[in-house]
Amino acid sequence: MTHADLNALLVASGLSPRVALVIGSGLAPVVAELDVAARAAMDDLFRVQVPAVPGHAREVVVGRFAGVPILVYLGRYHLYQGLTAADVAAPIRALQGTPVRRLVLTNAAGGLDPAFQVGDLMLIRDHLNLPGLAGQSPLIPPRGAEVDFIPMRDAYSPELRELAHAAARAVGVSLREGVYAMVAGPSYETAAELRFLRAAGADAVGMSTVPEVVMARAIGLDVLALSTITNRAVADEPATPSHEEVVREGARAAERLAAVLRELLPRLAGQ
Ligand code: HPA
Repeated sequence: MTHADLNALLVASGLSPRVALVIGSGLAPVVAELDVAARAAMDDLFRVQVPAVPGHAREVVVGRFAGVPILVYLGRYHLYQGLTAADVAAPIRALQGTPVRRLVLTNAAGGLDPAFQVGDLMLIRDHLNLPGLAGQSPLIPPRGAEVDFIPMRDAYSPELRELAHAAARAVGVSLREGVYAMVAGPSYETAAELRFLRAAGADAVGMSTVPEVVMARAIGLDVLALSTITNRAVADEPATPSHEEVVREGARAAERLAAVLRELLPRLAGQ
């Protein structure tokens, strides 16, 4: 594994970030004003070879954002790339033994709640881990090794959610809150699946984030997660999104997400 490499990157940066940030599809503009101290390709660091996905740079950057030392993953791995949940969560596992204590995850999601509009931001309060319920966990050990049973109640820190709401209020951005359903993709949902997810209590649906949250809780990080709503995912409306639409609308929502994060990160790093 690659803890040594990530630690080498931190040493090269001269910084000791307490916060890590994962930037999802089309959201790179969020950290346009990142003051970079050191960077590396995630694929080299984690020894994963998968084709590029539009909207995902897959770089790890250590630097300052809003004056705060931070480790940023620009892009992530997905189950739909033929990877395991452990592969997807490897960049989070690598944070073990670093100074990072808090993790902020961002993603693009479809809005299941008919009140959600394209461009809205949703703070994740809880999740439905569909791949996880079906056996895809980053915590499954090699055959015969010991298993850790990790509680997931309040996985999304109520205290950090309060800080996020306060930061959004301070910059005048409206922030919804809801339940995120993870599906494996890469096909988008059928109308029946959208009805199923909505009936099960989900407000947004996406193809990422949850394996990373499970790993973060297993290594003791506090978690905050934010979805940008890039498309409506409502059963009786005809359109299913294209990946291009998801990336384009993500980039538009990125400006408001950036405003919230600029206000939030000093609060997260300070306490
Ligand atoms: N479904 C699944 N994943 C997504 C969607 C969606 O509608 N939008 C962005 N990611």
